[in-house]
Amino acid sequence: MKAIESYIRDINDFPKPGIVFKDLTPLLNSPEATKLCLQELLAQVDGQHVDKVVGMEARGFFFGTLMAQALNAGFIPVRKSGKLPYETISETYALEYGSDVLEIHVDAIKPGDRVLIHDDVLATGGTAAAVCKLVERLGGVIVQCNFIMELSFLNGKDRLRAHAVRSVLTY
Ligand code: PRP
Repeated sequence: MKAIESYIRDINDFPKPGIVFKDLTPLLNSPEATKLCLQELLAQVDGQHVDKVVGMEARGFFFGTLMAQALNAGFIPVRKSGKLPYETISETYALEYGSDVLEIHVDAIKPGDRVLIHDDVLATGGTAAAVCKLVERLGGVIVQCNFIMELSFLNGKDRLRAHAVRSVLTY
């Protein structure tokens, strides 16, 4: 079995010139690598009790649902503006240029629920910080912010200082 990182390929200049995109589609295309990655993500949870796994659109959905199933927890999607059908609350977060909005269903989390936040990549931390705010506004208790990859040179952890942050791979 090859290491997980060998299934993640660098795509230069995507989505913009100068950006090296970490493409995990080869990993998803391998059942063995997907199983191994899931095991590593679950190992990071370290036996802590989790009621809900929150995954961010879009690449947080892949392993977020697998983790929720393995942890016997519910899966909660956080989506970009206007995509969720029921009543939502929203958080605006800064992008390199401009801003974007993330939303969660108001009934997705109950006060006191222990919540694991999962995404594929921690870059600047803006997305995860906005999701933490959404979860806490609904009364959720954040167990951990959990990622496949952390781009440590972008210092995303600084924006998540109040929370435990774990990543399978660090670049
Ligand atoms: C990417 C990635 C994370 C986020 C990390 O998603 O999947 O969700 O950026 O960046 P940050 O730490 O700087 O906030 P993207 O916004 O490209 O959305 P997508 O998954 O829907 O393509």
